[in-house]
Amino acid sequence: MRISIGCDHIVTDEKNYLVSYLEGKGHEVIDNGTYDKERTHYPIYGKKTAEKVVSGEADLGVVVCGTGVGISVSSNKVKGIRSALVGDVETARYAKETLNANVIAMGGRIVGIGLIENIIDEFLETEYQQSEANDRMIERIDALVMNEEQKNDDHYFDEFLEKWENGGYPNE
Ligand code: RB5
Repeated sequence: MRISIGCDHIVTDEKNYLVSYLEGKGHEVIDNGTYDKERTHYPIYGKKTAEKVVSGEADLGVVVCGTGVGISVSSNKVKGIRSALVGDVETARYAKETLNANVIAMGGRIVGIGLIENIIDEFLETEYQQSEANDRMIERIDALVMNEEQKNDDHYFDEFLEKWENGGYPNE
């Protein structure tokens, strides 16, 4: 499979580990960064990772930040993305089976790396259970979205990056 992956600076080590883990299983991985531990913002990587999925460059996405909350919410703003924040294997199965989730999100500071591996395995291996009811629900969810201007603005998150520079996030 082709997997798009992204993270923020809090969990770069975990993301790098997961890139190797997925490649070791024979997947083709698109690593959208971040690539180091310089402070940055999770929406940038949630968006980039998600866009590779909707464009068809990747089959599925994996996003990780400290809690998984910020990057899951961000990736969900990309039209066509159904990103599930998960901390257990059963929820990962449900997300794929029922909602055909195309991105899985996890908190790298919350969930242990062994469990993250199991969650990803379940997510990749579970098949969507197609039904009229599930298709209809997904169709309705996919109709909710980010506008074109926001989608194409590469500087949309710049103010937050500037805030890092100016010491605006003292605890992270
Ligand atoms: C750091 O920006 C931290 O807030 C982030 O990794 C994540 O936990 C947000 O949900």
